[in-house]
Amino acid sequence: MLKIRDLNVHYGGIHALKGVTLDVPESKIITLVGANGAGKSTLLRTISALVTATSGSIKFTGHEILGMESHDIVQDGIAMAPEGRKVFVNLSVSDNLLMGAYNRKNAGEIKTDMEWIYSIFPRLEERMSQQAGTLSGGEQQMLAVGRALMSRPKLLMLDEPSLGLAPLLISEVFRVIGQIHDEGTTILLIEQNAMAALNIADYGYVMETGKIVLEGTGRDLLNDERVKKAYLGESI
Ligand SMILES: Nc1ncnc2c1ncn2[C@@H]1O[C@H](COP(=O)(O)OP(=O)(O)OP(=O)(O)O)[C@@H](O)[C@H]1O
Ligand SMILES: [Mg+2]
Repeated sequence: MLKIRDLNVHYGGIHALKGVTLDVPESKIITLVGANGAGKSTLLRTISALVTATSGSIKFTGHEILGMESHDIVQDGIAMAPEGRKVFVNLSVSDNLLMGAYNRKNAGEIKTDMEWIYSIFPRLEERMSQQAGTLSGGEQQMLAVGRALMSRPKLLMLDEPSLGLAPLLISEVFRVIGQIHDEGTTILLIEQNAMAALNIADYGYVMETGKIVLEGTGRDLLNDERVKKAYLGESI
């Protein structure tokens, strides 16, 4: 569904992505793990056209999307829940969700999808009129995921959805990711929580300083000594 080939991104003199090649097949969960500053968010931001690539190719459902505008990419079926929540703090929960559906016209379908999001995240339903800036961190995280889902994406990209959440909420977020996937959405998941991400993913990539250094099935990477040492906190 998404095919990234030899992608390079520079921030001025910093070579942030160095020839990244990665595939996200339809209906799979693919995860990208790596340390702080590896370039994970840069990759998602480049796919969403918030960052401009210097060279390479990003094909989505067969056509090149590199060079397209961000809103056209959303229209094409790619949505992102960005790192650090980034909800509209002055808008209510329900208005934040509606903003996620700005690319859609059918009011009936939008209403049905709002109900779908509220069924996934009952906490958001209880707080639908509350100003988003007053939600707890975890609730804002749920809202960011819900807002991304409101564009009915074919591909949902999640940038560290479990960041800063209490353990109970982390398992809730991973349960929801599994549910969204079961309902037919392809997922590209970025996580520092490598154990949970590799457990849920069909296939994973490990990024270090702008390069993919390892890839394999979630199971293979979980059993890889280098991954265990660097990301799963096990000494060998
Ligand atoms: N707008 C920018 N201008 C200059 N450098 C940037 C910019 N955005 C990111 N970088 C640099 O690019 C590198 C990759 O950053 P990126 O945010 O992609 O990392 P990351 O893997 O998402 O890290 P984290 O896990 O901490 O979120 C870092 O060295 C960062 O400082
Ligand atoms: Mg990041």
